[in-house]
Amino acid sequence: MKHFLDINKTAPDDLRAMIDSAAAMKTARNGRPKGTPDDTQPLSGHMVALIFEKPSTRTRVSFDVGVRQMGGQTMVLSGSDMQLGHGETIADTARVLSRYVDLIMIRTFEEATLLEMAEYADVPVINGLTNRSHPCQIMADIMTFEEHRGSIAGKKVVWAGDGNNVFASFAHAAGQFGFDLTFTGPETLDPEKGFLDEARAKGSKIEIERNPQKAVEGADLVVTDTWVSMHDSPSSRERRHNQLRPYQVNQELMSHARTDALFMHCLPAHRDEEATSAIMDGPHSVIFDEAENRLHAQKAVMRWCLGV
Ligand code: CP
Ligand code: NVA
Repeated sequence: MKHFLDINKTAPDDLRAMIDSAAAMKTARNGRPKGTPDDTQPLSGHMVALIFEKPSTRTRVSFDVGVRQMGGQTMVLSGSDMQLGHGETIADTARVLSRYVDLIMIRTFEEATLLEMAEYADVPVINGLTNRSHPCQIMADIMTFEEHRGSIAGKKVVWAGDGNNVFASFAHAAGQFGFDLTFTGPETLDPEKGFLDEARAKGSKIEIERNPQKAVEGADLVVTDTWVSMHDSPSSRERRHNQLRPYQVNQELMSHARTDALFMHCLPAHRDEEATSAIMDGPHSVIFDEAENRLHAQKAVMRWCLGV
């Protein structure tokens, strides 16, 4: 069973093949209207369940459109409408869904929910974000970087802000794609040490630098994300904002990076909080390419999972 649960759990050759396949599928569509099918219809006859226990714009729409372009059908299920969390186990839900659908994408809270779904499903399961990671986003981000700048291997990526789930997938990707990664943020919001150690063990240079200006020196890519994630308590907002304010990505900070550095944000963004509008809409920014590439990258992920 080929589940797509995390970037560090997927072989580097498979990850590379998915990025290349995504780029080829994007080129093959060559700007045709979004509602028209791809020339090849590898998901013809396939039914895909898209389960959301948290809100989503990009993940929901890009998976749905991607399946349809490839000739498959989708059903979008919200966690609250299902029996999930109302007493039925994840394991039983996984077994039941496997009788109806060919592929399951789930966005959930606890990583344990994703893992239990994968363990008991007879069909592939894709991680559409948990409190701990967001691998589909970083597949799109790698694709986006390489579209603009060529191979990401050996490049310097700097993450400014909260050491959250999106950062974790960047750390996984650093090890698998061979780039260097610097985290700059307050110690209280450091990423899990294990994510960093694992990438280091694979040969990537992984650093923590508290001074954001120093951190971005020589950066090929600067990335940030919301200061309060969907799983964070709203009551932590003020404390997080106070701690993270020095790590805002603004023109002053960006001026310390390479002049051709790219800026990424997975979105949704809180403008003028984690990044200024001048940066989000400025010449370094590729945020809407990232959003578009969710579509292409996930199409490649789904094909890999299904072997089609
Ligand atoms: N970046 C991302 O996953 O966006 P959504 O929460 O809108 O799906
Ligand atoms: N870190 C954010 C990412 C949203 C796509 C969250 O988990 O809310």
